[in-house]
Formats: sequence, structure tokens, C-alpha cells
Amino acid sequence: MSVTKPFSRRDFLRTGAVLGGAVLLGPVTRFISPAHASLSSVPVVDRLDVHVAVDAYYDLLAADEERPALDVKRTRGPVHAQHGLALFLESRRGSETRHVMLDFGWTPDALVHNLKLMGVDAANLTDALVVSHGHADHFGGLMKFVELQPEGKRRGMPLYLGGDDALCHRWSRRPDGSRSEFGVLDRPGLEAAGIDVTVAPGGAVVAGHGFTSGVIERSSPEEVLGNTLVEVGERDGVGCSGEQHHAHFSEEELKGNFLFDHHWGEHVTAYHVKDRGLVVMTSCGHAGLVNSVRQAQAASGIDKVHAVMGGFHLAPAKSDYVEKIIDLLIAEANPDYIVPMHCSGANFSNLMARKYPERLVNSYVGTRYIFGTA
Ligand SMILES: [Fe+2]
Ligand SMILES: [Fe+2]
Repeated sequence: MSVTKPFSRRDFLRTGAVLGGAVLLGPVTRFISPAHASLSSVPVVDRLDVHVAVDAYYDLLAADEERPALDVKRTRGPVHAQHGLALFLESRRGSETRHVMLDFGWTPDALVHNLKLMGVDAANLTDALVVSHGHADHFGGLMKFVELQPEGKRRGMPLYLGGDDALCHRWSRRPDGSRSEFGVLDRPGLEAAGIDVTVAPGGAVVAGHGFTSGVIERSSPEEVLGNTLVEVGERDGVGCSGEQHHAHFSEEELKGNFLFDHHWGEHVTAYHVKDRGLVVMTSCGHAGLVNSVRQAQAASGIDKVHAVMGGFHLAPAKSDYVEKIIDLLIAEANPDYIVPMHCSGANFSNLMARKYPERLVNSYVGTRYIFGTA
């Protein structure tokens, strides 16, 4: 893996300046870069099927595709498209099959409806859960999904978070500057339902087949593009301790304030597919596309990247910035396939289609990607 320049405090301040309207509360007192995660061993799977259960785009007429080492199968029917993301992951290793639900869309209705239409019996199959970060368009369908699990199965079922930050209250900002609540993960409710909520800032092997990356180091010059505000602390029995935020802000800065949301606890989920390399799923990509891929490589010790898929959070960015990120990703990680979803933006897909069409796969809700085929 290439050596990268550490993300400096100066970069951090520059990012704040670029963000303009962000609520950066006084000077940034310290920036402690999280240690690179390194899992002792990441399993190798023979095959990985990624079912797109929730995403914003749908094309009833999109054709199935057969690419080298990748089959793409579409669902035909009245799927629900919505802002948000949910991926159902089915992996095979020898005779063993495992199932993981990665994110849950914004509303349970869309998630449950689409899984049924896709013929995925997620309620009875799921072995583990992952929430990528603390945004409601990724965990909105979670509690309903948990309720649908048979009680005996869900008791002790692991749910992985990348950091305490994922448990914080989030707020959106309206154009007039006022705030509206954007939800919070209900950890007590999940635990009461029998779910084993695990915060894994150093990464974790998931269901014996995949892995989470751990906290994403901000080593590239990528910017966290403006999105939500984060409220540190607990309210109404839910919220975060602020454990991660204390590494970045002083007590005074934290107290009763709404901070620009850097998603310190975001993590990616990935699989090492035999003879192909990593399939990296960014989910929302707030920490940066290049940073996310680097983190999956660092956590696993695997350099070869077969595919990068998910939300890249580049929809708010201008074309020249997006182009730089794409070029950097290809120069560094050289993925065979790039599958933009969710918040990646039209600029991203258009640039990919122009510069690297053989690597681009257009994604729609209801699609099933099969990696590891001969
Ligand atoms: Fe998102
Ligand atoms: Fe997000």
C-alpha cells in the first residue's frame, strides 16, 4: 500500500474553512488521528452476493450484466426507491454460508417491502448486523428489522458500530439556519431486544466471513462535505458519551453545542474474496472515499481491491474535486469495479463513464452483485 501523508491540523482547519457554514466552535484544540486498525486475520470467502435492498435509484429496464468475475442481476418489480442505503450480504466459504445486514435504509417500509420482492428471507437468515454511521437514512429501518427476527435468533445477535460517535443525536440544518432532529440510534432499545451492540473502533471480523475497518483515519486531503450537526451527550436515555469527541474538542467546545459532524465513528465493511481481493462497502463515505479504502486495506493487510461500492458522499462536490478523488483512488487502489450508490452524485457517475467506463457499474435498488464467480 502506498505511503500517505498524515492528515494534519492545518488540513483540518482548511477543511473547516472550505465548509463555510459549518458550526466550528472556536479554534480546534487538538486532532488526534486514530490508530490504524489491524485485524490479526481476515477470512477469505469464495463468493459474495451483495443485495441492494434500499437505494435512491431504480431502473426497471436495466439489463443484467456479465462482467469478468462479476455477475449483476436486477430485480423487476415495484421496488421502493428512497434516500438511504441498505445492503444484504451473503457470503460463502466452502460449505458455509453467512448473512449480514449492513445498514437499514431510512424507513422500515421500504426495507421490508424490497427484501420481500427480492426474495430475500432476511428475518430468518441474518447472522450479524452492521450500522455504518449515525445517520437515520442508514439505521431508520433497524428496529423493525430487529423485531422481525425470531426471538431465539436475535438474542445475542451482534451489531457492530465503528465508534461511540455513531450513537450521538444528529440534527439537520434547514436553509433558514434552524435545526431539525435527524434521529439517534436507540442502544437501550436494541439491547432490550436482545441485540449485542458492539463498538469496534479497531475493526472486527463479522459473522466469521467479513470485517469492519475500524475508525477511518483521515490521511488523505479529502474534505468532510457539509451535512449534519452532532449533539454530544445523552438525552432521554439515548445518545453518546462523547468519548471520541473529547479527542478533538475541548470541554468548553463540547458543552451544549452542536458540532460540525465529522463522523469520527464511521467505518466501512469489507470482504476478502478469494483470488479477487477486497470488496469495500463505504455506505455513506463521509470520511472520504480514498480514506475509506485505505482503512479497509490497513485493517486487513490486503492491498488488492476488487471493488468499491456504496455511497461516496460526493454529490455536494464540484466536478474538478470529484475528478481528483476518482484519479487518486484509481492511482492508489486500482479497483476493478467502482459501484457508486446513494449519495455519490451524478458528477461521479458521469466522470467515471467518461474516464473509466470499464470499471463503472451503474447501480439500482434491487440489484444483486455476485463477486467471486469464475
Ligand atoms: Fe447516507
Ligand atoms: Fe450519512
